[in-house]
Amino acid sequence: MDNILFLAFLVLLLVPLRNADTKFSQEFEVLGDLENLDVEENGEDEFEFLELPSWKSDRGNKVLVNVDAFGAVGNGISDDTQAFVDAWKKACSTPKSVFLVPERRHYLVNATRFKGPCADKLIIQIEGTIVAPEEPKSWDPKNPRIWLVYSNLTKVLFQGGGIIDGSGSKWWAASCKKNKSNPCKGAPTALTIDLSSAISVKGLTIQNSQQMHFVISRSDSVRVTDVKVSAPEDSPNTDGIHITGSTNVILQNCKIGTGDDCVSIVNGSSNIKMKTIYCGPGHGISIGSLGQNNSTGIVEKVVLDNAFLRGSTNGLRIKTWQGGSGYVRAVRYQNVMMQDVSNPIIIDQFYCDSPTSCQNQTSAVAISQIMYQNISGTSRSQRAMKFACSDTVPCTYIVLNNINLQSEDGTVETYCNSAAGFGYGYVQPSAECLSSSDKDTISKPEKEAEYLIHTEL
Ligand SMILES: *[C@@H]1O[C@H](CO)[C@@H](O)[C@H](O)[C@H]1NC(C)=O
Ligand SMILES: *[C@@H]1O[C@H](CO)[C@@H](O)[C@H](O)[C@H]1NC(C)=O
Ligand SMILES: *[C@@H]1O[C@H](CO)[C@@H](O)[C@H](O)[C@H]1NC(C)=O
Ligand SMILES: *[C@@H]1O[C@H](CO)[C@@H](O)[C@H](O)[C@H]1NC(C)=O
Ligand SMILES: *[C@@H]1O[C@H](CO)[C@@H](O)[C@H](O)[C@H]1NC(C)=O
Ligand SMILES: *[C@@H]1O[C@H](CO)[C@@H](O)[C@H](O)[C@H]1NC(C)=O
Ligand SMILES: *[C@@H]1O[C@H](CO)[C@@H](O)[C@H](O)[C@H]1NC(C)=O
Ligand SMILES: *[C@@H]1O[C@H](CO)[C@@H](O)[C@H](O)[C@H]1NC(C)=O
Repeated sequence: MDNILFLAFLVLLLVPLRNADTKFSQEFEVLGDLENLDVEENGEDEFEFLELPSWKSDRGNKVLVNVDAFGAVGNGISDDTQAFVDAWKKACSTPKSVFLVPERRHYLVNATRFKGPCADKLIIQIEGTIVAPEEPKSWDPKNPRIWLVYSNLTKVLFQGGGIIDGSGSKWWAASCKKNKSNPCKGAPTALTIDLSSAISVKGLTIQNSQQMHFVISRSDSVRVTDVKVSAPEDSPNTDGIHITGSTNVILQNCKIGTGDDCVSIVNGSSNIKMKTIYCGPGHGISIGSLGQNNSTGIVEKVVLDNAFLRGSTNGLRIKTWQGGSGYVRAVRYQNVMMQDVSNPIIIDQFYCDSPTSCQNQTSAVAISQIMYQNISGTSRSQRAMKFACSDTVPCTYIVLNNINLQSEDGTVETYCNSAAGFGYGYVQPSAECLSSSDKDTISKPEKEAEYLIHTEL
């Protein structure tokens, strides 16, 4: 690896000057760990069922369970909930079945829980559109925060070119973020996969959710490929893909544009890999928020490789509330292009998404070992990099390599508060403030680009 060679060269160069410097060797070690951080993709056997020929070509071997055969009308007006529930009973209890939502139709379905465990080799084939009733006032009061929930499933494949549409516009208008005289209460998540493992979701479009679009909770081994999420830029809290309490999740080739985070990764999540992600509009690719109401938040081993963010309010963001505990560590962001992003690189340990202001506290979610590598593009604000860390729990081992962020008028800067780390290779704007453990410092752009590690490393 080029970087390793480059580092080895640097070590040769610098070691004579500082062989007694343990800080340096620690940094070198952390750097090695971050360079090698990878999220293991699960053994193929777990996803062996994906290698089957398509459900159409291999129909002889499968049991087709078409919602139409259970009385679904698919005209967007009749309530097809019961047909879906009945079809699910059949599909879930029958080995090798395909739960089919046929194409070119609109199925109106209320809040529903599709529960497992199911018989082997279930495929959920969504070709048509599933729509939610649009009126919040008549939403099922027993299920105020969910629409379609799939739980307790193992080895299930969701696929098809279909659409899951939350019909969210009346929910957005009723949000307290839209109108302060509205009460602040949560709205349903369009699609949830809960308490499940070895799940693959391919090709679906999830749009106009009432609130979050796609939540992966308490699950292990989930692959999301070629999924599209879309909602208007001004729709409140409409996160794209939200990962909570889950491990070994891979998001690949997803295109997300919403009114909140494109991706949010929260407590209890580790080994998360995101590869080829398009984000915008939206609030960026986020870890957090964590630590709200003095809670413990733990997220580790996250890799983002190859992303394009356009017109989002944040780029790569880690956000934590004052008063939390736990940690975020071992994160690598690499090969990211930004275009017109307001805060391209941001760590915000003073996050406060609340109508009342938040007090600073002594405890905080600790942030450490965060690497940014090959990140370039344009910033809408002057502060292209912001590391706003807790005064009492500083961020450590923030590593920057090959960063080139510019703004329209050319002046960009880095803000640091209680943030420590280092940069190597080209880093623009300069990240010098990471090596002075000071509070509230700003690195202004330098006339000459930095090609070497700073000596105060
Ligand atoms: C289901 O949806 C229909 C159509 O929007 C609605 O009339 C009905 O009240 C809903 N039922 C529940 C339990 O939400
Ligand atoms: C999940 O399925 C298992 C059987 O595989 C069952 O024992 C368990 O109660 C189910 N859990 C939930 C939350 O439904
Ligand atoms: C906000 O909601 C109140 C009460 O529902 C309503 O009277 C007012 O017109 C709304 N304001 C806007 C800007 O929509
Ligand atoms: C955080 O995640 C862990 C592990 O999944 C869980 O046990 C704990 O309850 C979660 N804490 C909060 C505040 O949600
Ligand atoms: C934190 O507390 C507030 C107010 O008590 C509540 O509305 C909110 O849902 C809580 N958040 C979490 C993550 O527990
Ligand atoms: C969090 O802990 C601090 C310090 O103990 C306390 O002052 C504050 O009220 C707590 N906040 C919440 C939301 O429980
Ligand atoms: C840097 O990232 C961009 C994508 O944003 C990619 O096209 C380019 O090949 C990467 N450069 C290196 C040296 O990996
Ligand atoms: C919290 O601390 C930060 C960093 O020292 C400071 O910038 C901010 O103004 C403080 N906020 C409050 C509400 O005291």
